[in-house]
Amino acid sequence: MDENAIRKYVRERYAGIARQGTSCCGPEASCGCGGESASNSRNNGYSSEEIGAVPPGADLGLGCGNPVALASLREGEVVLDLGSGAGFDCFLAASAVGPEGKVIGVDMTPDMIEKARGNAEKGGYGNVEFRLGEIENLPVADHSVDAVLSNCVINLSPDKEKVFSEAYRILKPGGRVMISDIVLTRDLPEAIAGSLAAYAGCVAGAIRKEEYLRLMEEAGFRDVRVVRESRHDTAEAEAAGCIMSVTTSGVKPSSARSSECCAPKSGNVSPCCGGGSTSKGVIRNEDSFVDGQVETAAGPVPRVHSRITVRDLLGRWKVRWGIGRDS
Ligand SMILES: C[S@@+](CC[C@H](N)C(=O)[O-])C[C@H]1O[C@@H](n2cnc3c(N)ncnc32)[C@H](O)[C@@H]1O
Repeated sequence: MDENAIRKYVRERYAGIARQGTSCCGPEASCGCGGESASNSRNNGYSSEEIGAVPPGADLGLGCGNPVALASLREGEVVLDLGSGAGFDCFLAASAVGPEGKVIGVDMTPDMIEKARGNAEKGGYGNVEFRLGEIENLPVADHSVDAVLSNCVINLSPDKEKVFSEAYRILKPGGRVMISDIVLTRDLPEAIAGSLAAYAGCVAGAIRKEEYLRLMEEAGFRDVRVVRESRHDTAEAEAAGCIMSVTTSGVKPSSARSSECCAPKSGNVSPCCGGGSTSKGVIRNEDSFVDGQVETAAGPVPRVHSRITVRDLLGRWKVRWGIGRDS
């Protein structure tokens, strides 16, 4: 399927839902499709208190888990929600981080952003902001967020690798992700796998759980694990039994820094520049290049982007290549 066609179709589908104000399946499915918004959300692990705590219209029943409940959010933290829809998870997160904290929701559908902003106004949330943008190109500064959440969105992205690398980029060292999403348990029937409607319904864009976890690790996350998994219903009858909902977590290592920390400084070099502990995101002097990849002690590193300068054991400055985000 063509990437632009997917984005256009998905945006139109969720714009329609934002205008309609419900996840109601109709002739075309959406994520979370299968019933009333509140009952979908209860099935996804939200309590009646949580559902009742947000402004009416914020819970569209589009999720497939409850990442906020599992993210151990603390007062004062900065949280980002990838694909924030009408703001449901953002408002729950806003209560958890309190007035000293901040929540940013990013969504590529203007109608959803408008709806979420209206809901924020209705609920008087002073610590929530909604930004129009793609999760593959987040409108957020590097190393500025404590926790990234997402609920049933990354399966809709045609470039999941980029989404994970963006989440990694904006997290502070030591920051974490908590992501609920749809994954495949077995291959989809061909007719479903090639259907735009099934893509927008959070089915055809889903990938295998193992691949999902691998992409998170390749983006740099450590301690990647499945925190919760459950059955997930879909309006695409032929896909029943091929999908499930998982909530996964991962941590950005606290030693992680951007490549600028590796620029020559007077005297010493930061541990992330090859002198400290081995990390998959750091190319060390003993690593070798093989067919455009870098073989490191931690395994092959597929993407090499940024030129960095490191000091070798004899104290000489050398040019090396580090992993950076696509620019
Ligand atoms: C299934 S809904 C989930 C909404 C919300 N997370 C919830 O649980 O209510 C998917 C949302 O992600 C947005 N979305 C899909 N692909 C996106 C992308 N590549 N970048 C930004 N937003 C995206 C859609 O506009 C839609 O609002």
